[in-house]
Amino acid sequence: MEETNCSEEMQDRFMEEKIYNVYKAEKDNLIQILNEVQEHFGYIPKHIQYRLSEFLKIPMAEIYGVITFYSRFTLEPKGKYTISVCLGTACFVKGSQKIMDRLKERLKIEAGQTTADGMFSIDETRCVGACGLAPVFTVNGEVYGKATVQKLDQVLDELIANKDRGE
Ligand code: FES
Repeated sequence: MEETNCSEEMQDRFMEEKIYNVYKAEKDNLIQILNEVQEHFGYIPKHIQYRLSEFLKIPMAEIYGVITFYSRFTLEPKGKYTISVCLGTACFVKGSQKIMDRLKERLKIEAGQTTADGMFSIDETRCVGACGLAPVFTVNGEVYGKATVQKLDQVLDELIANKDRGE
């Protein structure tokens, strides 16, 4: 997603107030700082990655590596609704890949991406601890068990209808 100078100014202000004044410039603080950034912005903007690289004296590639290693960090803003399909073993053997394929087909994006209107993101997860309900998908953390492609379609139709009503 394109970032404007205006959002870079906001990001610099955030860094001043919440990071430079609070954290020591130590490499060990990287994860904690990334948590704060993720929580505040909903993702880790590129501009902040540069600032962190300067501040903590860590190469950009290393920061990128940490962000992509932990699934809780994202490089793009998340949509209003994040739909995660569990591809853990119990869900996979019960056909969760079909649900994932349908989701990608309907939203025309891949896992890890967000629709251009900012409404939906797709994630894949490995196990959400609800194997007894396999296959499972979640919408903003709410679990839909014994899922089918039809159930997914129904949930998507409802969310899209809410969007069209401006909810
Ligand atoms: S494998 Fe899907 S919830 Fe456990």
